[in-house]
Amino acid sequence: MEKNKLKEILNTLSLKEKIAQTVQLNGDLFTDSGVMPTGPLKDLGLPDNFDIHQVGSIYNVNDPEKLRMIQEQAINKSSHGIPLLFMSDIIYGFRTIFPLPLAQAGSYDFDLIQKAAEITAKESYLSGIHCVFSPMLDVVRDPRWGRVMESPGEDIYTGKEYAKSVVTGYQGQVKDYVSENHVAACIKHFAAYGAPEAGREYSTVDMSNQRLFNEYLPTYQAAIEAHALLVMTAFNVLNGIPSTGNKWLNRDILREKFNFSGLLVSDHSATEELQAHGFTANQEESAKASIEAGVDFDMMTSVYANGLEPLILSGKVDEALLDEAVWRILKLKNKLGLFENPFRGLDQENTGEFLTAEAKETAVELVEKSCVLLKNKENALPLSTQQKIAVIGPYGKSKFTLGFWASVSGKAQDTVTLKEGLENNFAKKNLTFATGYNLFDSYESFGPLKTGIEHLNGPIGDEKELIEEAVEVAGNSDVILLTIGEQFLESGEGASKAKLSLPDKQIRLIKALAQLDKPIIGLLYTGRPLVLTEIEPYFSSLLLVWYPGTMGGAGIANLLSGQASPSAKLTMTFPRSEGQIPIYYAQNTTGRPLNEENKNTRFVSKYSDESNEPLYAFGTGLTYNQVDVKWLENMENLTFTESNQIKLAYQLENLSNETSHAVVHLYMRDMAASIVQPFRKLVASQFIKIEPSTKEELAVTLTKEDLSFSDNQGEWHFESGKFGFYLVAYGQEEELIISL
Ligand code: GLC
Repeated sequence: MEKNKLKEILNTLSLKEKIAQTVQLNGDLFTDSGVMPTGPLKDLGLPDNFDIHQVGSIYNVNDPEKLRMIQEQAINKSSHGIPLLFMSDIIYGFRTIFPLPLAQAGSYDFDLIQKAAEITAKESYLSGIHCVFSPMLDVVRDPRWGRVMESPGEDIYTGKEYAKSVVTGYQGQVKDYVSENHVAACIKHFAAYGAPEAGREYSTVDMSNQRLFNEYLPTYQAAIEAHALLVMTAFNVLNGIPSTGNKWLNRDILREKFNFSGLLVSDHSATEELQAHGFTANQEESAKASIEAGVDFDMMTSVYANGLEPLILSGKVDEALLDEAVWRILKLKNKLGLFENPFRGLDQENTGEFLTAEAKETAVELVEKSCVLLKNKENALPLSTQQKIAVIGPYGKSKFTLGFWASVSGKAQDTVTLKEGLENNFAKKNLTFATGYNLFDSYESFGPLKTGIEHLNGPIGDEKELIEEAVEVAGNSDVILLTIGEQFLESGEGASKAKLSLPDKQIRLIKALAQLDKPIIGLLYTGRPLVLTEIEPYFSSLLLVWYPGTMGGAGIANLLSGQASPSAKLTMTFPRSEGQIPIYYAQNTTGRPLNEENKNTRFVSKYSDESNEPLYAFGTGLTYNQVDVKWLENMENLTFTESNQIKLAYQLENLSNETSHAVVHLYMRDMAASIVQPFRKLVASQFIKIEPSTKEELAVTLTKEDLSFSDNQGEWHFESGKFGFYLVAYGQEEELIISL
């Protein structure tokens, strides 16, 4: 629609109609007849005369027919026939569920990540969804927090690359409209929600501005530079001011400094929660604080619906602020072509467009490239097809491997189980299975879903009997494949934990199986780093599969049989104990760094009862093949080119007689700076496929910007001096010191 016509709509809307456009409600409130029952509306505090057909957006309805019906009602019953915006929590897949973001990012195959996002966008588009509430780009360094599962992890470079790939995959390459088979990206949660004090959900976030600018804002900024069309506010207080009511954060930084012109949506009830934070005294003050902070959509509260009209009529809030919000809402709807086609995506023939062969193949490849081989003593992996394999643990057959957010649109029934994958790669006669322990201790917490989940997952067994059966089955095998970890509801939102070790029932099983003195291969299903220190010694090999998604069983079986070789890296540090948290690789050295010489002295930066080292560091990951990296000659004499770039060249050699995928990491350290810089900082990665027994010369080009850091005012600086560069590939590190 032409801009002037769009502006005409804005200018002819009444005050009530404009306010209604800023309200976003959960589509569950719409009954099958399309009309919202007054009960839930009252619970929300919406006035009886509030016309739900005038709202701007609904979310989390993924049924095309229901969306069509709701849209028809909105257009027919609202005064200007303005179409609704349909949004949804599609975080890592729509119907084809991919591995968790925390897993995907570890593939460092950003082209593949983008392709998975494209598939997700197409499946969402064909279901009538216009915008997805992802990628989540909160940097995370505390595994006690349950939402680390939906983040690309602790590292800034990794998060930025993930952000660009997913936003581009969702929105496509076009900038001024969202073409078919694509959807708008709503990045979240702005800002720094991933740094809650004590790892407790919704807890306070407080940090220096230099840390915010250097470590917690760059992932969002990278998404905005990739033209993300929406941002969602965070629940948390940031340095004393709740993000949702934070003018400095949302106007000075997001809109001015990051030049964001898109739409800002509050997180669920976050405007209302300004009162609970103790930031506002009542709903009207919450409305004032939120609209002045630039929040355009009020998600699932009556704060705007009740608060804005009296504020504007009394002159306490300038109506121009409301016009600004509604204008952004109308522009987004226009970018999606909704005025010309409010049934965008719904008018396609969906026949067989979900879980296509391409989608499944992409998902299998992403599983293979996201699973991290943490340990592989005596090359116990890959398994041989001659071995008799006892598959112990509920994940041998469970379909609940999709992770917390997948249930919004994914279906556990679609999942390829580990058993199905193994039976595809190994002779069935060589495979035996035993549950070993209950994945869920009870089904009661599933409420109305209880029957379906119990049917799909099977009855709760007696723990003692399950162990006895497992030991018996394992006793008749050559090798034990043991699935351990969390069940999917133990991570995600509202799932902070103070203890991160495995449950006693799993530890009892591990110890019972260890008595058999057979090699135990561990498959770790989890949405967060766990504390595995006690049980790690029992395993010959340990493969971290995170929550691998719909095609998990197929991808994992390919890795276990050697059809594919692991190449992924850890995106988040695994602590030895909770007491080390927050623990992450990019730490400052301190003035008294621990080293071999001073390790037995007292006054050094260390613990008296624990190592400084994690169990598995960020970047850990083994491969079946062997590769070698080394710098090319004369790299130490490098200087900046006229365009302020340096080209760091190295050689990668594949020493094995198999084609190998290799992830090479390049870290740096600014040895002396006016704001102390981390001991190591990842600045580049390369994902390379290299033929057997060959050498390749490769290079990474860095700019001064890549070697810069921010001060407390958000200004970035490059300071000349000595820099360390570290080439890392599968346990090997090659140092290069250059003065720049
Ligand atoms: C939730 C989450 C957010 C999600 C939103 C809508 O509370 O914090 O990530 O997109 O509400 O469901």
